[in-house]
Amino acid sequence: MTPSRVIWLDGELVPWEDAKVHVLSHALHYGSGVFEGIRAYPTDRGPAIFRLQEHMDRLVRGCRAYGIPLEYSADELVEIAESVVRENDLRDGCYIRPLVFLGLGSIGLNPAGAATHVMVAAWEWGAYLGEEGVEHGIRGRFSSWRRINHASLIPSAKGTGGYLNSILAKAEAVAAGYEEALMLNSEGFLAEGSGENVFVINDGVVTTPPVSDGCLNGITRDSAITLLRSEGVEVRESSLTRAALYYADEVFLVGTAAEVTPLREIDDRPIGDGKPGPITKMVQKDYGDLVRGRIPEYDHWLTYVEGN
Ligand SMILES: Cc1ncc(COP(=O)(O)O)c(C=O)c1O
Repeated sequence: MTPSRVIWLDGELVPWEDAKVHVLSHALHYGSGVFEGIRAYPTDRGPAIFRLQEHMDRLVRGCRAYGIPLEYSADELVEIAESVVRENDLRDGCYIRPLVFLGLGSIGLNPAGAATHVMVAAWEWGAYLGEEGVEHGIRGRFSSWRRINHASLIPSAKGTGGYLNSILAKAEAVAAGYEEALMLNSEGFLAEGSGENVFVINDGVVTTPPVSDGCLNGITRDSAITLLRSEGVEVRESSLTRAALYYADEVFLVGTAAEVTPLREIDDRPIGDGKPGPITKMVQKDYGDLVRGRIPEYDHWLTYVEGN
């Protein structure tokens, strides 16, 4: 992680090294927080944040779902994120991490009385699954852990506590020599990767699990669906079995951090011919152009940080 200069914390820009919390913060003990992951990219008109409003809307909805009081509106959080990118002079693009979490005031499970804190940080961050992975594809395997389900937590919100589930899956996969874990839901259908949504391609038709199967309603997922449909590719949102990945011609993962990363192998079986396929490459290119402001029809998805 490359530190930047300042972090926005509870209304103030503070030096990176001073953005600290108390050890008795509620969220540190019980995972009572909600976060976002957002990227900004360099464009001809300066850095632009991709789908910032949608990310902040999801953050606000997540806080509501988990009952975390939040005084800031999505619009205010949008402005704060812009100021963090600007103040850190992150002209070559960056990753932006907003977090709402409960602090001091309650150490019991009832969070009433714990103060809400809000922070927004940003720093330079390259390819989450590696440049090599983006180009040639990564190796994945199904996790022995099942994705959190609607009966126990809220899979459609980025609640910090829920990420222990993703951490177990990711660490298990990496320790076994794979780059990413694919997670099934409690019914045995594909949910998603530990931090990405999944697209599976067979005979030119693209399928991705519905949000009701327990995946996050990913913003990159939505962007990929939009791009694919605009290219005339049929996209279905329907349940996928584990074996569907064994039969697939192509599989790719999408997420703000991972962007569009091909999966070249699953459970030690090559996917297709073991190389990124044509639809995957098309989405990669379109997405890369889109986030860098090269497709004018999607300009409304970009927030230019330095004006025109
Ligand atoms: C579990 C999980 N699924 C999917 C995604 C992709 O979502 P998005 O495209 O909104 O970043 C993420 C990343 O935020 C994630 O953590």
